[in-house]
Amino acid sequence: MPEVRTVQVRVPATSANLGPGFDTLGLALSVYDELTVTALDDDRLEIEVAGSGAADIPRDESNLVVRSIEHVYADAGREMPGLRIEARNGVPHGRGLGSSGAAVTAGVLAAKGLLAGDVDFSDAELLRLATELEGHPDNVAPALFGGLTIAWTGESGPQHKKLLVHRGVAPLVLVPERTMSTTLARSLQPPQVSREDAVFNVSRTALLIAALMQSPELLLDATADRLHQDYRAEAMPETSALVQALRAAGFAAVVSGAGPSVLVLCDGPGGRQAAKELADSVTDTPWEGLMLAVDVRGGTVRDRAEGST
Ligand code: HSE
Repeated sequence: MPEVRTVQVRVPATSANLGPGFDTLGLALSVYDELTVTALDDDRLEIEVAGSGAADIPRDESNLVVRSIEHVYADAGREMPGLRIEARNGVPHGRGLGSSGAAVTAGVLAAKGLLAGDVDFSDAELLRLATELEGHPDNVAPALFGGLTIAWTGESGPQHKKLLVHRGVAPLVLVPERTMSTTLARSLQPPQVSREDAVFNVSRTALLIAALMQSPELLLDATADRLHQDYRAEAMPETSALVQALRAAGFAAVVSGAGPSVLVLCDGPGGRQAAKELADSVTDTPWEGLMLAVDVRGGTVRDRAEGST
């Protein structure tokens, strides 16, 4: 079958919120979805998926990567071609590590690569397109740009600021077998919070930027939250119990994104093994421990014929 163009895309996992920074902060982590996307010169759609969540991911036009590519083409006023997509998913699926944000980002970057030379996209446009699909920018910003990101929506749409994390910060992600629905998690939060709780999270979020960039010894205080984790605890009791046990032992543990994984921000690589051992001892749930690095590059797209785009 004649092919028009093939691009290769790699997108990191992300952990959003980081405790107090609800819908705002995100961190890119060194586990990846990798896709090869080929534009075809007919309207066929072929999708192969291997890796995390493969059994549950649709192989038709409802596929989130396909919908994201289609969204970018429509926004650019171009007709989406037929596609062949081969995905190897390393980002744990439905565990609070940004798997849907990674799929959206992969689609947006694939479309950018397939349209290169015809349509140019600024970073702000890529973030706008991804946020339109994802609903909030805190996962797609680090998936696109890497590092620690602050994301917000200004008058001209979603914006981000990328920051680099202190080299002493060592992330550990504890991944349970069960999944969690972000929609369910969001439905458990009240529409209003007290001024006291709002001020609590403002202070911890500000402190968290300092802790992640300069002062990892402040991470425990800086990762406290009153806006989302307690409200969602009833839907993931093992996660809540583990976060409490780790924090009581001095580890800066938070719910990763909407859960149910737990992110532990250790202030040195040595703490990660101790945190994993504590996790294995305090709950009946098995936790897979991923000792990851902060990804500083973010998502990439490479034209298979011509090099990076
Ligand atoms: N900020 C989002 C939430 C991240 O916690 O609902 C998950 O998509």
